[in-house]
Amino acid sequence: MLITVVLAIVFVLSLPWWLPAKVVALRVRLFARINGDEGIQIPGDLVGVDRFKEVYAHPAASGRSEGAALSDLFWYWLSPGPEMHQEHLEAGERYDTVARTTRGLLALPRAEAEELTRRCVARTLGDVRGLVRLRDLMMPLWAEFSYELVFAEPCPRQARDLIVGNADDVVTALKCTGLRHMERRHRLTRYLLGRLNRVRVPLPSGLSPEEQAYYLQGAFFNTAVVQLSEAMAHVLMVLARHPDEQRRAREGDDRHLDRVIDETFRLYPLFGIAHRVTTGDIALDGDTTIPAGSVLCFNYPDFHRAGFTDPDRFDPDRFTRPARELNHIPFGIAANRPCPAWRLAPIAMRVAVREILHRYTLDSTAAHTRSMPNRGPCLVTPLRSSRRPRAALAYMRVRDRWEDVWRSLVQLVLGTYMVWDARRQRLCERHFDH
Ligand code: HEM
Repeated sequence: MLITVVLAIVFVLSLPWWLPAKVVALRVRLFARINGDEGIQIPGDLVGVDRFKEVYAHPAASGRSEGAALSDLFWYWLSPGPEMHQEHLEAGERYDTVARTTRGLLALPRAEAEELTRRCVARTLGDVRGLVRLRDLMMPLWAEFSYELVFAEPCPRQARDLIVGNADDVVTALKCTGLRHMERRHRLTRYLLGRLNRVRVPLPSGLSPEEQAYYLQGAFFNTAVVQLSEAMAHVLMVLARHPDEQRRAREGDDRHLDRVIDETFRLYPLFGIAHRVTTGDIALDGDTTIPAGSVLCFNYPDFHRAGFTDPDRFDPDRFTRPARELNHIPFGIAANRPCPAWRLAPIAMRVAVREILHRYTLDSTAAHTRSMPNRGPCLVTPLRSSRRPRAALAYMRVRDRWEDVWRSLVQLVLGTYMVWDARRQRLCERHFDH
């Protein structure tokens, strides 16, 4: 009897060390089973690291959504309105006008972008301290930033809550830690519909008011807020887990901070996979051709690890060499629909990191993975405080381990449901059938 009790206790206590990894592996197998095995993995057997950029940049690697089962899942997470989301639009006149509008809204002079970021940091961080989740901490900041980019006026509290509510809902579903709550999306759409005439550049005229609201929502109040919040959470998390690097970043110049950001993007690229559907054949050599209609899955983490010694180590000094010589494409490929915020995002992030490091010390004992489902647990202490928060850090470590057990099970159930539901609804496939 005693032995059974002891074994049961050992079993339960050991869960955090083995269960999450097993559940994640099961989830990946289930997703592959439901979604099918449609894509060509790059880098992979057919296209190696050496030809990754060449194939990504190929003119025939240009289909965006139509013809890939994977698109159904992304449309599901962004529904309703993915047919107006810039990253999902097929090439053509509609895409061109939308992309031009986005470029117009993002074309902020550097000094103005820096000043806007400073204002948003001051307004949203207040006197934060103690245990926080970095992704949650960052969302109001980038919600206000995006609002001002679009409307050129300070973000009212009501709008900020609507934006954060929706962006958080989308990213939570993407991580499979929660389901979509469409009412949050509808509330934001209604709000934006009432403000279309206040946008600081002309909106694409070929779009109905509802489409214009979906477009703004997709690019600026979803993608921009989610990506900037996740990117910043990664940078702050890296610094929280590497105290020496944190000191160096605080004392170093902007060039060093850029290297910290670049190395964070290398280790934790925001895109796991970007996919394209080929619109023509791509000849690889005399014997091998990728046929039209193939789904290409460009794997960012694999590409970013290739060609670096000890690739899992955080080492900003790798970027003393020009980034273009390295396998590093955090914002995609210039020749094939790169991120339109490739210039603005690093400028704003650098200022935000600098402002935060001037005010706080960051510590974390939680796990740091690319998908960061734990939202970046971190202890934020005002810089001049001399208390070393050992007990809080020990608590954070244990809590994170145990949350991982529970979360992996939630992700298994909710993730499998959403992948199945997306297959069932076939939002993208049905859109192109009509
Ligand atoms: C903070 C860091 C960000 C990173 C690392 C990032 C990364 C990326 C990447 C890798 C792509 C291209 C993927 C592909 O080839 O399919 C992309 C596309 C895109 N990003 Fe970003 N992004 C960031 C922030 C933003 C922001 C602030 C916006 C604001 C509007 C934005 C809007 C878009 C849009 C609209 C596209 C689709 C481009 C097109 O298809 O024409 N991103 N992003």
